[in-house]
Amino acid sequence: HRHLLGIEPLRPDEIETLLDLADRYVTLGRQRDKHAHALAGLTQINMFFETSTRTQASFELAGKRMGADVMSMAMQASSIKKGETLIDTAMTLNAMHPDLLVVRHPNSGAVDLLSQKVNCAVINAGDGRHEHPTQALLDALTIRRRKGRLHRLTVAICGDIAHSRVARSNILLLHKMENRVRLVAPPTLLPAGIEEFGVEVTHDMEEGLKDADVVMMLRLQKERMDGGFIPSEREYYHRYGLDAEKLRHAKEDAIVMHPGPMNRGVEIDGTLADDINRSVIQEQVEMGVAVRMAAMDLLARNLRARPTELSA
Ligand code: CP
Repeated sequence: HRHLLGIEPLRPDEIETLLDLADRYVTLGRQRDKHAHALAGLTQINMFFETSTRTQASFELAGKRMGADVMSMAMQASSIKKGETLIDTAMTLNAMHPDLLVVRHPNSGAVDLLSQKVNCAVINAGDGRHEHPTQALLDALTIRRRKGRLHRLTVAICGDIAHSRVARSNILLLHKMENRVRLVAPPTLLPAGIEEFGVEVTHDMEEGLKDADVVMMLRLQKERMDGGFIPSEREYYHRYGLDAEKLRHAKEDAIVMHPGPMNRGVEIDGTLADDINRSVIQEQVEMGVAVRMAAMDLLARNLRARPTELSA
């Protein structure tokens, strides 16, 4: 693949190959010398038009550990503020010959559109409600390492599915890898027609968590609710917030996941989130660096296989 825009076009064997490589980068990340050279001589530009802690930091670290020249644009201080469009901004940066563009944007489809205008490899770091492929891949790596496999598992994805690109990418990936995916949410936070994705749907946490191997919690994404339905946090926590009591319905060795940022006491109990016997939230962050290294390594191999404009 020339770009990584979503999980949708990836085959199961390609996902496994990327995760195998990411496993090797996990090992490297735990050593004193964390350097690899897969991106030596290449230029990586990060363009985040939406806030981010984990994704931006891990892409920057991943690029630096692999020897790229990494520039993270401060989009709030860019000429976007003067009315320059997304595409003009991308074309301007494209003229500086980057090899990798990492883009997060609030509009679904914006990263795909941008990828059609530039010469370099583009990675989707989250576009609107559409996809967040590296999040689903890091979640998959976390699950595979904890459960020893990435198939025939029951995964409950709970909370604000309707506004979540994380849920969408995870549903696509987990379904491709032949897992049983259950969505647990109030009717107002489920997108219409979601059953077509091969998932089971319930509005009840006890039913949804029953015998689950993995419980994945999602944040209430109020910034995408357009002033529409915003549930009362107290009521929401009572019915859908994960605590030790509700977790009892899942398997005894079920792991608890959350992509972050989390709102303690809204979708998850803070004590449970910190319980290292059940929660793998910090491990997900660690896997994020390794998965992003693997993704950029594979895209760079593809880039190096093609002649550059200068040598052509
Ligand atoms: N999970 C995730 O994408 O977190 P950030 O928004 O902090 O990057």
